[in-house]
Amino acid sequence: MTHYLTVKNVSKSFGKFQALQNTSFEVQEGELVCILGPSGCGKTTLLRVIAGLEEQNSGQIIQQGREITNLPPDQRDFGIVFQSYALFPNLSVKDNITFGLKTRKQSNEIIEQRLNELLSLIGLESHKNKYPSQLSGGEQQRVALARALAPSPGLLLLDEPLSALDAKVRQFLRSEIKNLQKKLGVTTVMVTHDQEEALSMADRIILMNKGVIEQIDTPQDLYSKPHTSFAADFIGKTNLFKATKNTEHSLMMFGQNFECHQLLTQNELMVAVRPEDIKITDQITKNNTLSGVVKEIEFLGSYSIGLIEVSHNNQRKSLICHLPLDNNARNDLKKNSLVNILLSPQSLKIVNSDLQI
Ligand SMILES: Nc1ncnc2c1ncn2[C@@H]1O[C@H](COP(=O)(O)OP(=O)(O)OP(=O)(O)O)[C@@H](O)[C@H]1O
Ligand SMILES: [Mg+2]
Repeated sequence: MTHYLTVKNVSKSFGKFQALQNTSFEVQEGELVCILGPSGCGKTTLLRVIAGLEEQNSGQIIQQGREITNLPPDQRDFGIVFQSYALFPNLSVKDNITFGLKTRKQSNEIIEQRLNELLSLIGLESHKNKYPSQLSGGEQQRVALARALAPSPGLLLLDEPLSALDAKVRQFLRSEIKNLQKKLGVTTVMVTHDQEEALSMADRIILMNKGVIEQIDTPQDLYSKPHTSFAADFIGKTNLFKATKNTEHSLMMFGQNFECHQLLTQNELMVAVRPEDIKITDQITKNNTLSGVVKEIEFLGSYSIGLIEVSHNNQRKSLICHLPLDNNARNDLKKNSLVNILLSPQSLKIVNSDLQI
């Protein structure tokens, strides 16, 4: 695979506030990459820098082997859909979609042909003479997408393209955009603060926090191998514990010894455990088990969520765990009952952390 887009050490400040700190990543040709992170972490700023709509203070941007760092937006090769999709309200669907083609002085025949192609791509052939106010949110979103795709850009930039839509339409358009992107093979950078959206759509996720990239990984690896406590906590639910190193492959938590798969290098550790990796057990083994008290059980259909409190000396912690139905049916799992839980060596993920818990 070849790198299509390279962002190298890009920093951006607004006055004294540093919105982006040394951000670097690469996007492969045809890839769909999601920039994911909480509100205000710098996602839109990063996208605008790639488009040339915002000037970086330092760093480089290279698209298809061409340095574009200092080029104005109209000399770069991208299509963009903004956070609020901003169609021209006084132009029809047809004129919105062909806007970019007309400014590029294409012949009427070519424009008409491209328009029909795009209308059929987004399934809105019968709406071409309508105005944006006569369309639903989802339809407007598809028109915005068609407008961005009209000049066949090499790079598609999407800033929270689904955030203004209700949950059902959003879910439908998620797979529609993903299919369209794969069909066209257009390299895409999409910004979102919705982890489900990123997990379900992205080939790779760039996870950002406070202007810094925390981790770049496939959705599967980001979930199962988070590098930092922020990554573990932001993607899905997680339990975080403080622990101390015992040996290279064992640690102490709550006065108990736990074996772990990862090689331990530091004495003070932060451990992340997913709720689905905590098992209720009848057996107390020498290692990797804890006893706790069931504080809550919430039935959620196919499984339940349990809140189990474990304590040792002054350390007290409520763990969230998933209880599959067979556990849920057990009579002993009642509020205030004592249970033993097993945290297997592979369930313990050592993460870097600046969190105080
Ligand atoms: N033109 C500007 N002038 C000053 N500060 C700005 C400007 N644009 C963005 N910022 C600040 O930079 C930070 C990052 O903004 P950005 O819009 O990139 O966030 P975001 O991650 O896209 O958030 P959201 O999910 O809410 O859209 C914010 O704290 C914001 O207030
Ligand atoms: Mg934004």
